[in-house]
Amino acid sequence: MSDYKTVKSSQITISELMLPSHTNFSGKIHGGYILSLLDQIAFACASKYSGNYCVTASVDTVDFLNPIEVGELVTLKASVNYVGNSSMIVGIRVEAENIQTGKVKHCNSSYFTMVAKDKDGNNVKVPKLILSSLNEVRRFYYCVKMISVRKEKQEHEEIFDYKSIEAIENLKNYNVKVEIN
Ligand SMILES: CC(C)(COP(=O)(O)OP(=O)(O)OC[C@H]1O[C@@H](n2cnc3c(N)ncnc32)[C@H](O)[C@@H]1OP(=O)(O)O)[C@@H](O)C(=O)NCCC(=O)NCCS
Repeated sequence: MSDYKTVKSSQITISELMLPSHTNFSGKIHGGYILSLLDQIAFACASKYSGNYCVTASVDTVDFLNPIEVGELVTLKASVNYVGNSSMIVGIRVEAENIQTGKVKHCNSSYFTMVAKDKDGNNVKVPKLILSSLNEVRRFYYCVKMISVRKEKQEHEEIFDYKSIEAIENLKNYNVKVEIN
């Protein structure tokens, strides 16, 4: 397999008509159903790019920007935006189209970190990435930033003393009451 692959070679699109069986109690499409579609397309995109089956390592920012209605045509577009050694960050954009008016709304953007596995379940190296446009460069740097924010959070978690007097005092700034016996 070549050492490098293009972002384009990873791209996948899935379209699906939203059925009444996918609704929640308010009659809109259930967020969990969209999450399952996101996971499916992330898996397909990362597996296609890496040439190996992949697992989901983590999911970053799943913002539901607009509700999706029954009868709308939902399209998910995915591409590999970043590669590490065995990991890839797949960016996914979800749009919903009203079939009758043709109006398209942006409903969700999310980022899945996928890890490639060999037949024995070991992590395996993935091809390096060719960035062929400034948009692809922008998306790559977005992922670099996302990884560094994740690391900062982990480090903060490791050093933060939630039992300290300052930490307990600071809770006055939140909508909570501490009642520890
Ligand atoms: C996620 C998983 C593959 C990590 O593998 P590992 O051997 O424990 O960990 P490593 O530290 O060697 O990490 C391997 C790669 O995953 C990345 N990674 C590990 N945990 C991660 C996390 N929580 N978020 C993002 N990336 C992560 C690492 O950065 C590394 O990337 P790189 O190879 O590009 O440098 C492993 O824990 C796993 O298989 N988890 C279960 C996955 C699964 O079942 N998903 C479906 C859930 S329903």
